[in-house]
Amino acid sequence: MSQTFDRRTFLRNAALGVSASTLPFTLVELAFAKPEDTFTFAYISDSHIQHIKGTQFVRNWDRGLIRAVAETNLLTPKPDFIMFGGDLAQLGNKPELDHGAEMLAKLKGKVYHVMGEHDYYLDLGEYWSKLFGPQYYSFNHKGVHFIVLNSILTYDDWTFNRWPSAEQRMLEMAGLDNPNGSPFMVGDKQREWLRKDLAKVKKSTPIVVFSHSPLQKIYKGWNFWTEDAEQVQALLAPFDKVTVLYGHVHQIQYNQIGNISFTSAMATAWPWPYPQSYAQAEQLLPKLTVQMNRADPFFERDATGWQLIDIHSGRSRVNFNLYNNKARTVAFDEKTGTPVDSAYQATESRTPPQTHF
Ligand SMILES: [Fe+2]
Ligand SMILES: [Fe+2]
Repeated sequence: MSQTFDRRTFLRNAALGVSASTLPFTLVELAFAKPEDTFTFAYISDSHIQHIKGTQFVRNWDRGLIRAVAETNLLTPKPDFIMFGGDLAQLGNKPELDHGAEMLAKLKGKVYHVMGEHDYYLDLGEYWSKLFGPQYYSFNHKGVHFIVLNSILTYDDWTFNRWPSAEQRMLEMAGLDNPNGSPFMVGDKQREWLRKDLAKVKKSTPIVVFSHSPLQKIYKGWNFWTEDAEQVQALLAPFDKVTVLYGHVHQIQYNQIGNISFTSAMATAWPWPYPQSYAQAEQLLPKLTVQMNRADPFFERDATGWQLIDIHSGRSRVNFNLYNNKARTVAFDEKTGTPVDSAYQATESRTPPQTHF
């Protein structure tokens, strides 16, 4: 048994050990051939802090984020940094962003941020940027190239010409299945920046991309979608090991497109059900290699659990520990070239979709 394996096992057990009550955050481990190169980072997403009035905020969402912060601070070994995956706020206003930032300030360690649509569409990211800095950027850490994108932009006409007020624009984008919404995108400017950024990176360097919306097209009706996903994927395609981590969907998703592994982070706020069970829209089913073993996860804490992602090979292996649902492992299968669920891959093993709502 190699030292690498020992250390990985240790990390996984340590992680799962503290997760008996299932924690609303993700620990990502990047393990390398030399054990001393291995490191972890924590990933918290979608807290949707919601202002009621005065000093009042929606308590459940506060509690989810407070727990995630507290448990992240207790991790041993300490993660090298913490990524927040976006949708810190519900309606993007100052009280929500300030309150969320105050809770995140308790995290011990460097915190990076991804822009979510709920943070953005009130003032187009102005206050968020004052608090957290640039909306897209990259950095290198221990041999890995990390990229953060603002993937929730949309067409200028929708953003600037459609709505009587900024509040109205925010509300239209905040609805999950609102037909008045508009598809998310990374956009020309940022894709050009990404192209230039990647030009400096060796093809063998592992790349981890953080976005808020999935950098793939899953379900347009709910904006589980990125309009220019193929163009972004094409920029990433020449690299040997690419992992995309995203929030936004509040549910487990895992996919592989060419060399790119896609894994969603769970939310600290609430789970979304699956478009399959909600809309019964067969023709719009997400094209995913692994389905959730639950047709409708609308238990209030479902899909707000703990996941450990091991991305040392560029092929993610994800352990999920879920509230009120069985733990799962999804790992890349070299034989089929796709990610496979250790227990629920076969159609007959899955819980069938419910047909009433
Ligand atoms: Fe969200
Ligand atoms: Fe979102």
